[in-house]
Amino acid sequence: MLQRPRRNRKSSSVRSLVREHKVTADDLIMPLFLVEGTGVEEQIASLPVAYRRSLDTLLVEIGSCIEAGLHTFILFPKIPDALKDKKGTYSYSDENFYLQAATAIKEKYPQITLISDVALDPYSIDGHDGVVEEGKIANDLTVGILARMAVAQAEAGFDVIGPSDMMDGRVEAIREALDEHEYTEVSIMSYTAKYASGFYGPFRDALDSAPVEDPNSPKDKKTYQMDPANSREALLEAELDALEGADYLMVKPAVHYLDIIARLRADSLLPIAAYHVSGECASLIAACDRGWLDYKVVMPETLLSIKRAGADVILTYFAKEFLMMQK
Ligand code: PBG
Repeated sequence: MLQRPRRNRKSSSVRSLVREHKVTADDLIMPLFLVEGTGVEEQIASLPVAYRRSLDTLLVEIGSCIEAGLHTFILFPKIPDALKDKKGTYSYSDENFYLQAATAIKEKYPQITLISDVALDPYSIDGHDGVVEEGKIANDLTVGILARMAVAQAEAGFDVIGPSDMMDGRVEAIREALDEHEYTEVSIMSYTAKYASGFYGPFRDALDSAPVEDPNSPKDKKTYQMDPANSREALLEAELDALEGADYLMVKPAVHYLDIIARLRADSLLPIAAYHVSGECASLIAACDRGWLDYKVVMPETLLSIKRAGADVILTYFAKEFLMMQK
């Protein structure tokens, strides 16, 4: 036999010499959930690696993530119902505790990269990413609000704006609004191919942001998030986002959409981000809790699969635990 591929697997040393892919701290983005108040640190029942934290405990957590090697974070707010309305006006209010927290975080840790969330759902009484008018999502009206929200976030100190809403034309509107306000250095990480997935459940629990049950409001997000059956359509979204000024293209979810990550990687010159979403993390944790899978093995293997598919950066609730396990 002239070729024996097993020779390159014969020892740990040889295997690491020929290893093609590796997940490092530089690949990882840690999602964090913010609530109003002080002293809050509540574990999320359906996603036990994640917590809702108030600013004070969040600052401590970010410090510990930095110690683990992380330097990029994406922040999501849980907004009290009393501050929600049809058009998400609290999202750009001067009083907004999410914007104030961003300023405080960047003041304490200027070296980190802080990514925002742009969408209406945390602020909307309908629980939708856009404004609901006569039972439908009003795309163009929503885009104007999103642009205003993005400018407020840039002003607060976010380094990267993360539109997660899937409205048409929002990347261009956000880019123009940022430039008009001289935030030319603030980047856009666009949720390019965000699917209408069932794997967002624990996230909606964490933020209490699910679409409300109301006959006058759409019951799901299928008119704006993509059909899980489509892959060519992701290329169309990618082309538009690149033309509209996105700096990163994101695929979401990650693990069940590895083919989409690989296609966008092959097709675009922009960095590709992949969001390993709440339900994907939660299902793995649940199987490990039952003793059916070994967490130490399958968690790193899962992150590696996303990297191998072609993601340049991975948003995952496991970011800190992954790095701590490497130590
Ligand atoms: C909403 C948003 C969602 C997530 C990020 N931003 C949920 C949704 O679209 O309903 C999901 C993230 C996760 O599940 O981890 N703008």
